[in-house]
Amino acid sequence: MEQYIIKGGNPLVGEVEIGGAKNAALGILAAAIMTDETVLIDNMPDVNDTNVMLEAIAGIGATVQRVDRHTVKINGSTIRDLNIEYDYIKKIRASYYLLGALLGKYRRAEVALPGGCNIGSRPIDQHLKGFRALGADVDIERGKIVAEADHLRGTHLYFDVVTVGATINVMMAAAMADGVTIMENVAKEPHVVDVANFLNSMGANIRGAGTDVIRIRGVRSLHKTEYSIIPDQIEAGTFMFAAAVTRGDVTVKNVIPKHLDATISKLIDIGCEIQESDDAVRVVANKRLHCTHVKTLPYPGYPTDMQPQIGVALALAKGTSTITESIFENRFKYLDELARMGANIKIEGNSATIEGVKKFSGARISALDLRAGAALCIAGLATDGITIIDDIKYIQRGYERFEEKLQSLGGVIERVASEKEIQKFRLKVS
Ligand code: EPZ
Repeated sequence: MEQYIIKGGNPLVGEVEIGGAKNAALGILAAAIMTDETVLIDNMPDVNDTNVMLEAIAGIGATVQRVDRHTVKINGSTIRDLNIEYDYIKKIRASYYLLGALLGKYRRAEVALPGGCNIGSRPIDQHLKGFRALGADVDIERGKIVAEADHLRGTHLYFDVVTVGATINVMMAAAMADGVTIMENVAKEPHVVDVANFLNSMGANIRGAGTDVIRIRGVRSLHKTEYSIIPDQIEAGTFMFAAAVTRGDVTVKNVIPKHLDATISKLIDIGCEIQESDDAVRVVANKRLHCTHVKTLPYPGYPTDMQPQIGVALALAKGTSTITESIFENRFKYLDELARMGANIKIEGNSATIEGVKKFSGARISALDLRAGAALCIAGLATDGITIIDDIKYIQRGYERFEEKLQSLGGVIERVASEKEIQKFRLKVS
C-alpha cells in the first residue's frame, strides 16, 4: 500500500502548471461517445478517475486511442453494449454520466446504481427526475438503473437542488431529444459550461450554460470535434492554499483566474497577496494567516472541493474561524486527522469552529478522500516533523503527478511503499 511521507517546514516557492479539469473531463469523455465520428480530446488529466472512465467507455465497445499522455481519440461507432457494470461505478461514481450519454444516443442505458461515498450519501433522484421528464421509463432493477425511451422529448424541468451531476447528465440526454428542453435551477460550475461547450462543438444546440437556466434544442445526431478541456480550478486552488499554508510564493500557471474568484477572495481575507495575470495567479504569504468564516456553496460560491484546503489554513491561522459545509454532509472527517496533528477544532453538525494553533506536529494520518487527502498533504508540508499519509489512492484519483509538482516547489514529499523506504527517507531528512 503506497503512502506519502512528508518532511514539512519549507515554504513552497516557484511555478506550477495546472492540468485539465478532472470533473469536466469525466462529463466530456461520456459525451464523446454520443457521435459515431471520431472525437479528439486534449488537455485530459492523466488521473485514475479519467482512466477508469476511459476503461468504462472501452468496456462497452467504444474505440479509445491514447494519442499521448493528455490527448485521447474516442470513436463511439463500435459500441455494442449499453450496460455499465458496478465495477466501474464502484471506482468512479461519474461513470453514471454514461446513462445520459447512452440514453440520448441509443434511447436505452443500464448503469449500476451508485451507492454513497466517503463524503456523503449522494442521492441521484434529480438525474432520474430529469430522464423521466424527457419521457424515459426509469426503473431500479437488481441494483441497476434501467432507462429506456421510444422517444425522448423536450421538456421544462426545475431541479429541486442545484446539482452538477444531474445538470450534466440530463443535458446530455436532452441534447439528442426531440424538441426544446428548458432546465431551471441548474449548476453553473465551469465544468458544466465546458461539457456544454464540448457538446456544442459536436453540433448540439445548448444555450445558457453558466447561468441558472439552460435551454437545449435537441439535434438528431452529433459529429466529430477537437476539443481542449479547461484547466482544473480545484487543482489550482489546492496549490494556492499550499503556498498560503507554507508561507510560500507560488504561481499557478495555465489557469482561468475568473474560475478562482471565490478561492482568491478567501486567500485575500486570510492575509495573502495575490497577483493575477491572463492565465496565471501568484499567491504570496509572508506572515501568519488570519481567521475568517467560510460557507461552501454551488458556483460561484466557495467550492466544497476547496473546503479541506481552507480548513488546514484556518487551523493554523490566528483567531477563531468557522466553516459551514452546505453541500455534503460528511466532509469534515479530515478535521479529526488534523486534530491528531494538534489542530483545535469543534464540529457541530455541518459547522466547524476552528481555533488556530501556531504549529502542527507530524503524525500518521489517513487521506480519507480526494480533497481531504490533498489538504492533509498541505498540512504535512507546513509541519516541522514527519507526516505519513495512508490511503493515497484517493489523491491519485484526481491529482496528476501530485508529489512531483510539490517537489518542484521545494516540498519534501515522497511516495513510499515499505517500512524500508520510510526509514531511508527518515535518514535522508534527519
Ligand atoms: C460534483 O459531484 C463533483 N464531481 C464533486 O467533486 C463536487 O464536490 C460536487 O459536484 C459539488 O461541486 C464531479 O463533477 C464528478 P452534485 P456531484 O450533484 O455531481 C445533492 C471531487 O472532489 N443531490 O452537485 O455528485 C447532493 O447530495 C468531487 O472532485 C441530490 O440531492 O455533486 C449534494 O448535496 C467530489 N440529488 C448536492 O446535491 C441528486 O440527484 C450537490 O451535489 C444529485 C445531487
